[in-house]
Amino acid sequence: IRIHLVAPDGAETTLEAKPGESLMQAAVAANVRRIEADCGGLLTCATCHVYVREPFAAQLPPPQDDELGMLEFTAAPRQANSRLSCQIELAPALDGLTVDLPATQH
Ligand code: FES
Repeated sequence: IRIHLVAPDGAETTLEAKPGESLMQAAVAANVRRIEADCGGLLTCATCHVYVREPFAAQLPPPQDDELGMLEFTAAPRQANSRLSCQIELAPALDGLTVDLPATQH
């Protein structure tokens, strides 16, 4: 599954990820800057915030209540396509997934 992470300056990182891992796990394993993931995926930090581009944003299952709650605490402004990358489970249908990284996570 190929995923693309775009920094605020336009620099793009492309990763090969495995189905079943989260976007956060794939990004952390590749040392992508701006995915901090302080809580390790426990939904208590909001430092794995990303903006998901279409058409993928519409394909993701909508956020559950606990993700919606943590999205109140993102450091960068929350947008309609804001998600926490630890809650995005990668699957073959998400090949080509592209997300924008926020300017800050703290
Ligand atoms: Fe902490 Fe996603 S890694 S909320």
